[in-house]
Amino acid sequence: MTQKAQWVRLDGAGVCLVFALEEGGGADLIYIGDALPKDEDLASLAHANARARHESQSDAPPCPGLLPQGQGGSSVAPAVVFSANGARIDTDFRLLQWQSSAQNLKLNFKDRLSQLEAQIEWDVGDRSIISSALRITNPSAIPVTVERASAIALPVPRRFTEVTSFSGRWAGEMHEDRRTIAPTGFARSSYAGKSGFSGGNWLILHDPLSGEAMAAHLEWSGDYDTRIDCDNQGAGDGRAVLQMGPALRAREVVLEQGHAFQGPLAIVAIARDEDTLTRNFHAEIRANVIAYRDNNAQRLVHLNTWEALGFDLSNEAIMRLADDAADLGVERFVLDDGWFGARRNDQTSLGDWRVAPHLDLPAIIAHVRSLNMDFGLWVEPEMVSPDSDLYRAHPDWCLHIEGQERPTMRGQLVLDLTRQEVRDYVVGAVETLLTTYEIAYLKWDHNRDLFPRGRKAHRQTEALYDMLAQLRAAFPHVMIESCSSGGGRIDTGIMRYTSRVWPSDNNDPIERVRIMQGWSRFLPLEVMGNHVGPSPNPITGRQTAMVFRAKIALFGHMGVEADPAAMSQEDRATLKAHIALYKQWRWLLHSGEYYRLDHPDEGIFAHMVAGETQTLAMAAQTRFCAEFDPAPLRLKGLDPKARYRVTLPNPWPAKGSLYLSDWERWSRGLVLSGAALMNQGLALPLTHPETAWLIALEKLT
Ligand code: GLA
Repeated sequence: MTQKAQWVRLDGAGVCLVFALEEGGGADLIYIGDALPKDEDLASLAHANARARHESQSDAPPCPGLLPQGQGGSSVAPAVVFSANGARIDTDFRLLQWQSSAQNLKLNFKDRLSQLEAQIEWDVGDRSIISSALRITNPSAIPVTVERASAIALPVPRRFTEVTSFSGRWAGEMHEDRRTIAPTGFARSSYAGKSGFSGGNWLILHDPLSGEAMAAHLEWSGDYDTRIDCDNQGAGDGRAVLQMGPALRAREVVLEQGHAFQGPLAIVAIARDEDTLTRNFHAEIRANVIAYRDNNAQRLVHLNTWEALGFDLSNEAIMRLADDAADLGVERFVLDDGWFGARRNDQTSLGDWRVAPHLDLPAIIAHVRSLNMDFGLWVEPEMVSPDSDLYRAHPDWCLHIEGQERPTMRGQLVLDLTRQEVRDYVVGAVETLLTTYEIAYLKWDHNRDLFPRGRKAHRQTEALYDMLAQLRAAFPHVMIESCSSGGGRIDTGIMRYTSRVWPSDNNDPIERVRIMQGWSRFLPLEVMGNHVGPSPNPITGRQTAMVFRAKIALFGHMGVEADPAAMSQEDRATLKAHIALYKQWRWLLHSGEYYRLDHPDEGIFAHMVAGETQTLAMAAQTRFCAEFDPAPLRLKGLDPKARYRVTLPNPWPAKGSLYLSDWERWSRGLVLSGAALMNQGLALPLTHPETAWLIALEKLT
């Protein structure tokens, strides 16, 4: 930045951004963090952080800023890349003008040679989430291909030296990995045509010295491209820039004259510690992302047929399962895969959304309703099986490349939603279901990657959003869950149209508790399905006790995905008791402040949700402890001066309770200060694998 720079500040809730803007030059972010005093001298702030040119650097030191273009020898990847007539355009975008308000900044750049215009919009709203988006317009007569368009290019403050990223696979989502950013930076893309299992659209940056943390996410359900470049080669000044944007493949987005490309939002939160960061994300999702509806205010207990019946569906089996579900206290019965066309396995009938002839859906729904449960239905509308009437009638409706093979995945192909007639068919099929039957809930699944997709992946995602928007408008009372073989498409893009996500197909509690904690860094518990599965678990083969499975499932949107008829009487009673506990506590679990409780024993997973006067915590030991007595569990977020009555809600874990010091005392409850609970904690018996405790706190007045 030169002497000509001007300063603009945006103030959100507890967050401040200061930009340095130079007409005819560039734009940079010179401050992001906690609120600054209203009268902060922004010029001094900029100068306090400016550096002069150093050796072996261009005479005008490069500043990648908010629109890096590889200028001046910087090795930060360009945020925008274009080509025309088959050749790369060498851009030199300059800031033409800007408009700002207290919470919003629009920056208009223009590239003099190509005439391309780039508008970057930063917004802090009245909240602690920051958003950035990029819009490209082509006023020239020459068609331009957009090859790269980052939704955000964020100059990373130097205090953030570490990054947590997530990786995963089917049934094994959200493995956390924390490492230093320099010198190699970070780069990850998805290729499946969806946000995918690989997690790179969710990042957390850390200042390890102060604990301050910053999270970034791309609101997009298609492929993403995330990178952090540390400039330790080009300009060599060590600056890092974080970029997130949609991954655009060759010639996917071509702008004719007058056309614009509006990219997705990137959202960023910054907070003094990771707990606050998480709460800021949760608050944003609760207030501004999730499509809530009145009837969804209370998250009903589900029973899903998948792990109970699989494809083995009959009227009798379904109705018997519904009876058993109602007896447990289930409130919504979800009929999963297998109810339509000739679907008796996963190789057939996707696209034929007519009830299988051997099933009487109206009678099933009437039965479910007579048991006072809602009815939900599984669909996978974006897909088609080669063995289906739809495919036989319209073999050209799937994504394919003319003259090439059509490789399947799970025996299925993807419909080409960029075609209007295909979208009309899909929306029409779902509409027919929703108008013909009394359906309160759809589990909207997506079980294969998008390949081959030619140049259509980006538009496919836009088309999906269009369809979901149409359906939401027509059926606002229907709640939609987004599933993609579990957590294969979880992002706030799809959450704008849906109310629940399915974090993983893996219901094994030992895996599930880790996966839930991973997603909980960003997502509040109420949007995440969490089901009690069968034992042994069909994915891991592991046997686990019901008293453990059910406690893990409480922290989420609870459901059952197992056949009660296959359970012992004792297990049924245990499950029923936990369903009752969920109903008792869901108001808090789904509105309170979430804290992850760290423990020195890495086998222990613990979290809590705090409200004004009530708090519920859960601690789960997933392995055999190296010591007889693991360290006490320390709570968080309490009023240090207040006194709390602490109880351990039943049912207790059988083995664990043997080691509880004084049963009677615990049954009556202990009174402790918030300070004692946070500083010292509770020494619960957490020695044996599959031991989980609930801890209830009531603030005493
Ligand atoms: C996917 C989903 C499962 C289940 C099956 C049905 O794998 O993630 O929950 O619905 O499809 O085929």
